[in-house]
Amino acid sequence: MNLLEKKLSASPVCKEAQQARDKGIYPYFRAIESDQDTEVTINGKRVLMFGSNAYLGLTNHPKVKEAALEAVKKYGTGMAGSRFLNGTLDIHVALEKKIAAFLGKEDALMYSTGFQVNLGVVSVLTGREDYILWDELDHASIIEGHRLSYSQKLKYRHNNMDSLEKQLQKCEPDKVKLIVTDTVFSMEGDIANLPEIVRLARKYNAVIMADEAHGLGVLGRQGRGACDHYGVLSDVDLVMGTFSKSLASIGGFIAGTKPVIEFLRYTSRPYIFSASNTPAATAAANAAFDIMVSEPERNAHLWKLTHYALERFRAMGCEIGRTSTPIIPLFIRNNEKTFAITKELFDNGVFVNPVVSPAVAPTDTLIRFSLMATHTFEQLDFALDKIEKVLQKAGVRQIAHSPKK
Ligand SMILES: Cc1ncc(COP(=O)(O)O)c(C=O)c1O
Repeated sequence: MNLLEKKLSASPVCKEAQQARDKGIYPYFRAIESDQDTEVTINGKRVLMFGSNAYLGLTNHPKVKEAALEAVKKYGTGMAGSRFLNGTLDIHVALEKKIAAFLGKEDALMYSTGFQVNLGVVSVLTGREDYILWDELDHASIIEGHRLSYSQKLKYRHNNMDSLEKQLQKCEPDKVKLIVTDTVFSMEGDIANLPEIVRLARKYNAVIMADEAHGLGVLGRQGRGACDHYGVLSDVDLVMGTFSKSLASIGGFIAGTKPVIEFLRYTSRPYIFSASNTPAATAAANAAFDIMVSEPERNAHLWKLTHYALERFRAMGCEIGRTSTPIIPLFIRNNEKTFAITKELFDNGVFVNPVVSPAVAPTDTLIRFSLMATHTFEQLDFALDKIEKVLQKAGVRQIAHSPKK
C-alpha cells in the first residue's frame, strides 16, 4: 500500500464499513437485479421496496419507459456536450418551459442532476459581501454549494425560526441575504416552516431558495410541492427540484425570475461545464411529469398509505420524529443496531435504508422508511408487521416523538 492508500484505509468510515462486513451486517450497494417497483430482486431474493424516493411509483410505468425508448430512437443515447454549446435539445427547452409555467415562474434551467443544481446555484448567486442562511439539516448538495461560495454563511437551527431571525439580524440590511432550505427534509420527513420563512424574508428583505426534491409530486396542487401546499409559491424566489424522485428519472431544475436564470446560464459551472441531460432521462422526466399532473389519484393513494403508516408507527411506539410525509424515520440512535435491524428486515423481505453517522450524528441514526403510490395496503401491512417484530426483538420499542433538534 502506498501512503495515500494506507491513510485512507485507516479512515473511520472505511474501518466501520469493514467491521460491518465482518459482522455480516453491511447494508450498502445492494444491487437490484429486477425492474424497480414495490417489489425488487436482490441476490435472487424478492423483497418489498420501502427505501425508494420514487414517491409516485413511476420508474416502471410503461408510458415513462416508452418515452425514454422513443427519445433514444430519435436523439441517440448521449449528449456529448453541455447545454451551452452542442448539448441543447428541443425537449430540454420544452421541459424547462413546462416546469416554469407549472410553478408560475418566469424561467427555468435544467441540470444533469439535482445535486448539480444546488451546487451550481448556491455557489454563484451571492458575492463576498452577501449572506447565505441555511438550515443545519439542508441536503449535502446545498452545503457543497455554499462551501464554494465566498459569501458569509450563517447556519440556523433546524426549522427553528427564532434561530433564523437571529441570523438575519446579524446581516447588513443593504446586502443580499439568501435563505436556502429543503422543503421536505430528506431523512427526517418534516416540512420546513415556509410561511414563517416567507414572513421573515419579507421583514429582512431576504431572498428564498426552496429545495423541493422531496416536495415535488408529494405536496401541493398536482404535486407542485410544499411551497404550493402552504400557498407561498409566488413568495418563494427560487424553486429547485429533481427528476430523480417523483419524476422517475435523473436531472434537476431551478425555476425563478428571468434575471436570475439568465445570470445562471452564463455563470453556473456545473451547468456550463458538464454534459447535458440525456435524451432518455429528459423524455422520461417529461412523461412522468405529465402523469403527475394528470393522475392525481396516485398522490391521493400515497397520502392514504402515509396517514395509515404514520398512525401504525405511532401506535407501535416507534420514535418517528416530526415527519408528516411519506418519508418516515425510525430513530434507532446507534450505528451498529441500525445496520443489524436493516439486515434483519432485509432477511424478512423488507428493504429499508439505514442512515448512520457521519450522515447524521451517532445519536440520531435512523432507518428511513419511504412510501410509493404503487404500494398496496397488503404490502404496507406486511412491512409494518415485520418491522414491529424486528424492533421488538432488537429492544427498540420506544415512546413516540423525538425531541426537537
Ligand atoms: C433535498 C435534496 N436535494 C437535492 C438532492 C440531489 O438530487 P439528485 O439525486 O437528483 O442529484 C437530493 C437527493 O438526494 C435531496 O434529497
